[in-house]
Amino acid sequence: MDLELKGKVAVVTGCSVGIGRETAKVLAAEGAQTVVVARRAHLLETLQKEIEGQGGAKPLAVTLDLYDRAAAERLRDAVLGAYGRADILVNNAGGSRPMPWDSPDDAWDESFSINFTAVRKLTQAVLPGMIERRWGRVVCVTGTAEPAQVNAAVAAKAGVHAWAKGLSREIGKHGVTVNCVAPGRVHSEQIDAKLHPTPESQAAFTRANIPMGYFGEAVDVAWTVAFLCSERARYVTGERIHVDGGMHRAV
Ligand SMILES: NC(=O)c1ccc[n+]([C@@H]2O[C@H](COP(=O)([O-])OP(=O)(O)OC[C@H]3O[C@@H](n4cnc5c(N)ncnc54)[C@H](OP(=O)(O)O)[C@@H]3O)[C@@H](O)[C@H]2O)c1
Repeated sequence: MDLELKGKVAVVTGCSVGIGRETAKVLAAEGAQTVVVARRAHLLETLQKEIEGQGGAKPLAVTLDLYDRAAAERLRDAVLGAYGRADILVNNAGGSRPMPWDSPDDAWDESFSINFTAVRKLTQAVLPGMIERRWGRVVCVTGTAEPAQVNAAVAAKAGVHAWAKGLSREIGKHGVTVNCVAPGRVHSEQIDAKLHPTPESQAAFTRANIPMGYFGEAVDVAWTVAFLCSERARYVTGERIHVDGGMHRAV
């Protein structure tokens, strides 16, 4: 199936490692011109080489910190300056924030800043062009909506789910879709180094929670994101698709 992504300009945040990196590689392999975004410039450089080495167009690397209040405008200006448009935005940067229920405000604000506000601001920055051209794809990488404990990222990403649904209803008539992809447990820097740092903890979590019996790979999420970015998903909007080996239970 041809996803018809050739020549589309695709901005992917959080590309230095993990799901974002794999997403950029899959989109580039499908012919998209990628714009790769993260703070660690040296990892974006290796990604540029990797994508070029696989025959893809050299990505534009934009090193920025999404906590920066001007990040959305900076990124929009860099993309429009280089290509004149952004067809696809994958809001992937973010991360889990398990914390005690009585954590101080600044801990909550930090999580909402990266997991909700940066997503909303980047989307608002590129949407006018998508609406004008009557074609656009916004995909937000979120996560479970069934927390086992207080987690400031789950709360922020639940906000993304609700915001994305509302937005999809307003802008569908302009040919722009907005969807969320919710990973369960996928091997990545944050999962393997922080959340489940030992094989034993991964095995115990898997036994209790994952019907498929293993943690996914970042590329498992990337393939679903790429489909949602494509022409083939033109009639899919306002959705949240789980990529979690059957982990979630609520319908
Ligand atoms: N892996 C999973 O199982 C899982 C489960 C549920 C949800 N998710 C969600 O999926 C997304 C990707 O997760 P992942 O596991 O691949 O994460 P990861 O391995 O921790 O990678 C996170 C990416 O986000 C970038 N990033 C973080 N803060 C940033 C900032 N302030 N400015 C710019 N870039 C920033 C990081 O790059 P730099 O550090 O170089 O800036 C990195 O490229 C996240 O939104 C996460 O919440 C993942």
